[in-house]
Amino acid sequence: MIEKTTELKKQFEDKIAKIKATTDLEQLKVEFLGKKGLITSLMQGLKDVANDKKREAGLAINSVKQFIENSIEHKKEDLAKLEWDLKINSTPSYDESLCCSVEHGTFHPITLIQREVEKVFETMGFAIENYSEIVDDYHCFEALNIPKHHPARDMQDTYYLSTGQLLKTHTSAAQNHIMRKYGAPCRAIFPGRCFRNEAIDACHENTFFQMEGIMIDENISIANLIYFMKTMLSEVFGQEVEVRLRPGFFPFVEPGFELDIKCLICGGKGCPSCKDSGWLELCPCGMIHPKVLEYGGIDTEKYTGFAFGLGLTRLAMMKYGIKDIRTLNSGNLKAFSQFTNQ
Ligand code: FA5
Repeated sequence: MIEKTTELKKQFEDKIAKIKATTDLEQLKVEFLGKKGLITSLMQGLKDVANDKKREAGLAINSVKQFIENSIEHKKEDLAKLEWDLKINSTPSYDESLCCSVEHGTFHPITLIQREVEKVFETMGFAIENYSEIVDDYHCFEALNIPKHHPARDMQDTYYLSTGQLLKTHTSAAQNHIMRKYGAPCRAIFPGRCFRNEAIDACHENTFFQMEGIMIDENISIANLIYFMKTMLSEVFGQEVEVRLRPGFFPFVEPGFELDIKCLICGGKGCPSCKDSGWLELCPCGMIHPKVLEYGGIDTEKYTGFAFGLGLTRLAMMKYGIKDIRTLNSGNLKAFSQFTNQ
């Protein structure tokens, strides 16, 4: 009887391996598990087995029966999946009678400029980091030397959430996290979307992109900061662009600077894109305030560093000649389609 069950199992395995359709599987099921099937006839043969061998033979038949039932179930699932895939692949998901070209999407200008700036900094050894858009008060303000009720909080009109958290007003909100993550020395950039409750115009949006950068090491000075800013701009624009550096106040840097770019839309004559000033604030920067380094766990006896907050959306405006910043959030695919091969 044991040999018969082994033989039956082998016979079943050979047959199931050849099955390609659920209807054939149903037939196989009947052949082996049906009322008049092969398993039933094996069971009926048990009466002729010697008493001391009956238990062993019964267990062997049950085990093969179980095996056949499981195999049929698995095969059923496999066949159903195969048949589904076949159906999907043979049904065109488009109208074949409509000919001509398929329209491809394009990268958003912000994505393009972000990748370009990332490439420049990556080759200079900067890590690229990502940070949440929802942050807490500590990271956005306190750790940046902006305590509660500090007038500098008014510089950025903040969207608060009911949880007490807030939408990141600037990428500087990640500085503390990056310092804690890397310690010193460290070089990192961290692009991100920022949100401010601002009146919007041709060069102000309430949702815009910045790219923060920090470099911390021994003997880092303003000369290093200027070198990296100049390199970044000449690489991105592929030519010298006119910039000016003037003192700027940010509680998290000392000294702080405003780096403005001469408006490339009007060539400096004045237009709505630069609010008629001929210059556009692009990349404030400065030497990281010792208090901010301390909050980040950096040894201020040994290390100094610089930080910058590049206005990525404005950089895209200047690079691609986009006159109005609102175009970039408009979702106007026709306008963006020009940037395919940039
Ligand atoms: C800041 O956000 C500082 N965190 C930057 C910084 C970092 C300073 C590190 C020093 C050291 P500010 O608010 O000026 O600064 O914004 C920085 C840049 O983001 C601006 O120069 C501008 O290019 C861009 N920006 C700011 N507000 C807007 C806006 N409403 N729409 C579009 N771009 C904006």
